[in-house]
Amino acid sequence: MKHDTPKNAVLWAGRLGKKPDGEAFAFQSSINVDRRLVFEDIKGSRAHIAMLGAQGILDAGTVADLDAELVNISGEIRSGKLLIDEGAEDIHSFIEGILTERLGDAGRSVHAGRSRNDQVALDTRLYLKRRVPELEVRIDAAIATLLDLAERHTESIMPGYTHLQRAQCVTLGFHLCAWASALCRDRLRFADALTRLDECPLGAGALAGSSLPLDRERTASALGFSGPTLNAMDSVADRDFALELAADCAITQIHLSRFCEDIAIWASEEFKFIDLAEDWSTGSSIMPQKKNPDFAELIRGKAGRTAGNMVTLFTLVKGLPYAYNKDLQEDKEALFDSLDTVDTCLRMFCGMMAGASFNTERMAAATTGGFLEATDAAEYLVRKGLPFRKAHETAALLVRDAIAAGQDNIASLSLAELQNRSPLFEEDVYAILTPRACVAARRLTGGPAPEEVRRQIAKLRKFTL
Ligand code: ARG
Repeated sequence: MKHDTPKNAVLWAGRLGKKPDGEAFAFQSSINVDRRLVFEDIKGSRAHIAMLGAQGILDAGTVADLDAELVNISGEIRSGKLLIDEGAEDIHSFIEGILTERLGDAGRSVHAGRSRNDQVALDTRLYLKRRVPELEVRIDAAIATLLDLAERHTESIMPGYTHLQRAQCVTLGFHLCAWASALCRDRLRFADALTRLDECPLGAGALAGSSLPLDRERTASALGFSGPTLNAMDSVADRDFALELAADCAITQIHLSRFCEDIAIWASEEFKFIDLAEDWSTGSSIMPQKKNPDFAELIRGKAGRTAGNMVTLFTLVKGLPYAYNKDLQEDKEALFDSLDTVDTCLRMFCGMMAGASFNTERMAAATTGGFLEATDAAEYLVRKGLPFRKAHETAALLVRDAIAAGQDNIASLSLAELQNRSPLFEEDVYAILTPRACVAARRLTGGPAPEEVRRQIAKLRKFTL
C-alpha cells in the first residue's frame, strides 16, 4: 500500500496493513454507480472548503488553491480530459485523491470535519434535487400530450369498461383525462418529495458531527438548501428520501403500465380503437403481417423493474441498526434505475401517444349494442319517482326482454313492451337512450359530458404550468 499513488490510495490506509485486493476491492467499491454524483461531489466540496476557510480551519490560500483545482477537475471531467478512475473506491475517494495528487497537503485537508457518510447523503440529495424537477417536466409533457388529444376528442363517444365489459358511455377525451389526473397526482407527489429533500446533511460527519467549529447553516445555504438537517445521526442513517422517490417512481410507472395496457388492448384487431404510428410499432421476424405495440408493452413491463427497486430499497433499510452501514451503498443503483426508467418511459409514452390516431367510428360503434344505456333507463325511472333498486330490476328485465327478442339494446323495444315492465315509461325515454344522450346527461362534476371534460382539461392544465 505504501506504493499507492494518492489517486489510488484508499482513504483509510493508515489503519489497515493491507487493502482488499482485486475482486474483493471491486466488490466493496461503488465507483461504477456513484460516478454519476461527481458534479454534486465537487459542488459539496467547494461549499465545505469555503466554510472551513470562513471558520479559520483552512487558510485563505489553501481554500483558493483547492477551489481553483476543484473547478479545473470539474471542467476536465466535463471535457473528457480527466477520466473517472474505475479503480477508485468511490467518487469521494477519487476526487480527494486527485486533489492530493495535484496539491499535496492542501488535498489532504479537504476532508476536515467531514465523513463520506454525510458526503454521500449530501451528494445524493443534491443529485435528486436536480433530477426530480426534470422528471416533473417529463410528467408535464405527458399530461400536455394527453390533454391536447383529450381536447380533440371531447365528443368522441366510446364505451367505458368495468371488468373489461362494456359498462357506460364515455368519451375518449374523458378517458384521457382519467389518465392525466393520475399523472397530475404523480407530479404533486414528486413536488412534495422535493420539500423533504431540502435539508442539508453536510456537517453530520460520520454520525455525531464534529468538534471543529463548522458552520452548517452556511454550507446549507451555499448549496441551496433551506437549512441543515436537525440531527446528525438521523442525517447519515436516513434514506427516507430514497424510499419515497422509489415509491413515487413505482406509482408513476404503474400508472403508465395501466395506460399502456389499455393501448395494447385498443390496438388489437378485436378492438381496433387506436392505430399506433408505424414508427412507434414493431414487426415480427416470422409473421409478415404483424404490427405490434411493443413500446406500450415494454413500458408496461418496466413497471416490474420500478416496483422491484422499491422493494429492494425498503428491504435494504429494514432493520438496519443506527447509524450508517455499508448496506446503504446499495441504495443508489436501485434508485437511479427507477429515475432513469420513469424518465425514459415518460418520453417514450409521449412519442407514442403523439403519433397515434384513434378510430373514432369503431369506438362509437362499440357503444351501440351491449346495453350501455341500461343504467340510464333505470335513472329515468328514478326521476319518475321509482326507488332505485326497483328501477334497476326493471331495467334488468328490459335487458332480458331485448335479449329474448334477439335485440342488443333497450331502445329496440316498443313503448308497449317498455310499459309492460313499468307504466312510468313514456315516449320521451327513447331520447335519453342514445349513446350521445347518455354522455351529455352526465354533466355533473367529474362526468364525461363534453363541457364538463373541457372544464377538467382546463383544471388539469393548471397543474402542468
Ligand atoms: N460509497 C459509500 C456509499 O455509497 C460512501 C460512504 C462510505 N462510508 C463508509 N464509512 N464506508 O454509501
